[in-house]
Amino acid sequence: MKINVITMFPEYFEGPLDVSIVARGIEDGALVVVLHDLREHGLGRHRQLDDSPFGGGPGMVMMIEPMAAALEPLRDTHRVLFTPSGAPMSQETLDRWAQIDDVTFVCGRYEGVDQRVIDNFIDEEASLGDYVLAGGEVAAAAAIEGVARLLPGVVGNPESTEKESFRDCLLEEPVYTRPADFQGWAVPEVLLSGDHGRIEEWRSQRRLERTRQRRPDLLRNGKDSDT
Ligand code: ADE
Repeated sequence: MKINVITMFPEYFEGPLDVSIVARGIEDGALVVVLHDLREHGLGRHRQLDDSPFGGGPGMVMMIEPMAAALEPLRDTHRVLFTPSGAPMSQETLDRWAQIDDVTFVCGRYEGVDQRVIDNFIDEEASLGDYVLAGGEVAAAAAIEGVARLLPGVVGNPESTEKESFRDCLLEEPVYTRPADFQGWAVPEVLLSGDHGRIEEWRSQRRLERTRQRRPDLLRNGKDSDT
């Protein structure tokens, strides 16, 4: 899979691309990430990227010329703009993007992006959540990491991406490892019992209980709403 990223801050991605699963995916050749510096398409001596909004109002708007220059050669890719006005990203969104060979993540900045960019160059707008960040870079980094771990061969044990939270509309159960007792804080007895039937029953109850308490919306929306 190839991911293009259009950003004013390519240096932002140095950290996220260089560690853990994403670094491994790139090293193994499962993932190619190409950073495109929007500033290279900036206008004039100052490489201007933004201007004040028509009709007045606070803040600056990203101009169409630099965006068009960066996006025109990427027309064959699936182009996603990160903005708080986009559809919230979910596991389903990442599953879908991971099936596409060539995607482009566009990081918005300032108060917004000229609507003509969105109307003519963008296939989909996505948000990291209902809060405003300074730009789309964090969302793009999150999407790259979320997608990278879905690519074949990137995560050692494919079961760990199949069984995890959100696939079955339930949160994960609590997990424990050695020691069985730390300063009097004991691991639930059932997990030491060796009785796999009881363990599975306990895990499934904890998943349901947690989801009811923390994310009842998942139970209402999910296919498992009758459980
Ligand atoms: N840019 C600014 N805020 C954002 C958000 N919540 N999601 C995606 N991109 C953003």
